[in-house]
Amino acid sequence: MEEVSKTMLTFLFCISTLLPCIHSRTGNHHHKHQHQHQHHKSSSIALPPSPDSHILDDLSPSTSPAPSPFSDNIFNVRSFGAVGDGVADDTEAFKTAWDSACEASPAVVLVPASFTFMIQSTIFTGPCQNGIVFQVEGVIMPPDGPDSWPANIHRKQWLVFYKADGLILHGGGLIDGRGEKWWNLPCKPHKGANGTTLPGPCDSPVALRFFSSSNITLHGMKIINSPQFHVRFDNCKNISVDSVSITSPAHSPNTDGIHIENSISASIHNSIISNGDDCVSIGAGTFNVDINNVTCGPSHGISIGSLGKQNTHACVSNITVKNAVIKNSDNGVRIKTWQGGSGTVSSVKFQDIHMDNVRNPIIIDQYYCLIKECANQTKAVSVSNIAYTNIKGTYDVRSPAVHFGCSDSRPCTNITVSEIELLPANGVSIADPFCWNVYGAMDTVTIPPLFCILDGLPRTIMDDDAEKC
Ligand SMILES: *[C@@H]1O[C@H](CO)[C@@H](O)[C@H](O)[C@H]1NC(C)=O
Ligand SMILES: *[C@@H]1O[C@H](CO)[C@@H](O)[C@H](O)[C@H]1NC(C)=O
Ligand SMILES: *[C@@H]1O[C@H](CO)[C@@H](O)[C@H](O)[C@H]1NC(C)=O
Ligand SMILES: *[C@@H]1O[C@H](CO)[C@@H](O)[C@H](O)[C@H]1NC(C)=O
Ligand SMILES: *[C@@H]1O[C@H](CO)[C@@H](O)[C@H](O)[C@H]1NC(C)=O
Ligand SMILES: *[C@@H]1O[C@H](CO)[C@@H](O)[C@H](O)[C@H]1NC(C)=O
Ligand SMILES: *[C@@H]1O[C@H](CO)[C@@H](O)[C@H](O)[C@H]1NC(C)=O
Repeated sequence: MEEVSKTMLTFLFCISTLLPCIHSRTGNHHHKHQHQHQHHKSSSIALPPSPDSHILDDLSPSTSPAPSPFSDNIFNVRSFGAVGDGVADDTEAFKTAWDSACEASPAVVLVPASFTFMIQSTIFTGPCQNGIVFQVEGVIMPPDGPDSWPANIHRKQWLVFYKADGLILHGGGLIDGRGEKWWNLPCKPHKGANGTTLPGPCDSPVALRFFSSSNITLHGMKIINSPQFHVRFDNCKNISVDSVSITSPAHSPNTDGIHIENSISASIHNSIISNGDDCVSIGAGTFNVDINNVTCGPSHGISIGSLGKQNTHACVSNITVKNAVIKNSDNGVRIKTWQGGSGTVSSVKFQDIHMDNVRNPIIIDQYYCLIKECANQTKAVSVSNIAYTNIKGTYDVRSPAVHFGCSDSRPCTNITVSEIELLPANGVSIADPFCWNVYGAMDTVTIPPLFCILDGLPRTIMDDDAEKC
């Protein structure tokens, strides 16, 4: 995401969601028993012939994560009154199905195939004692654009899972964010003349948000056309994302694929993302992320940051990106920090990555700035122990293949490169790799050569607490 500070957003999200979160679940409590009854009455119709039948299978049979005890406890949203014609408001039915399943957990909330459910912004709140499966086989979509969004419901998020420890969200269905009218708001980038933006309300909902949840699995879903980020994790622990497909147009603003912030332990595997902003973005307070076999593009690449905006403290470490393909993207693998921040990005590995016509395939930018001019500041989020290994393919010659723009006061240290082979995708490259205050080593000869990386350590190292994490 390029436009607003993510840290700031999280802060706003937290403030704005805590109350409704708590409210949503307790608020529905009195409905539960009444609908529980309804569920049992109609579940004989909704249930598949045998608990083991296809309805619990994921598209890839070997990876169905639903444990067997869940399968005889299915809460079909249609049994709770959801219509599924794409017009009727099915919000209450979804909420009641969730609350009932949560109370009876382990249980499955089933969104059946062949129906399109329109639901408003909703917070599905746990915890559910023994885990819960939210199985989407049909289509879920929000009201169509800002004009249809109820005025009293805030516009920063749509489907939210809060305190949903042990949640498995999976299925062969589709989450369609219907983003088009949001992308066209006058406030969005380039909607004014000459690439400017116009004033006006700009909040747009994240399609799928996980907040304060542990042990969550997002598996095999298709998520398209989010008004803003497609998937966002805040304050979560032990996240597993696998076989997810995310698609929105290359011109759709701020539609990051998967954003992770203030979270510990996440894997993102076997997923395909094409969108109008970062493919995967990693925000402050995030540790132990493993990204493997992800294909990005068009997109703005895989990013750590932006970090340190408005003098904030940001720490990110132990991030691995392996077996990625990045194509037709504005950036490949990127670390971006604002001047004036503090904290550290460290222990990051970018390995076995194929670039195809990418601008800035390898970039560290410690002068990240989206306003006209950012004042020079001495403080910076430090960047160290970053390894780039086996990164090959082609780049768009409008930018150098490698750009290491490190801070004057806190140079990047222990930046290592090996087996880099980046060739111009089109025409002749005139720009040499860019290096500024970058220390480390070229472990093998690279194409283009990176002799501009300085050996050893900078002569003066700032000795203060600003880097502490
Ligand atoms: C997460 O899963 C682990 C392992 O199954 C379990 O020990 C832990 O209690 C779970 N955490 C939460 C918050 O449910
Ligand atoms: C857009 O740019 C053109 C050419 O530079 C200029 O003549 C015009 O006034 C600009 N329009 C606005 C609204 O800034
Ligand atoms: C992480 O979550 C998964 C899925 O809920 C669970 O099986 C696993 O035990 C958890 N791991 C840890 C270390 O908590
Ligand atoms: C990589 O991900 C793609 C897309 O999900 C999948 O088809 C492929 O089997 C995965 N490759 C491996 C080695 O798992
Ligand atoms: C780094 O993250 C991986 C998961 O991606 C985890 O298995 C490993 O233990 C972490 N290493 C450290 C030192 O925390
Ligand atoms: C920041 O420093 C650079 C390099 O010394 C200089 O070119 C630039 O003009 C400065 N920017 C501002 C806003 O002072
Ligand atoms: C340099 O970074 C690598 C990881 O990229 C790490 O294994 C190594 O220990 C670091 N070296 C120093 C001296 O910190």
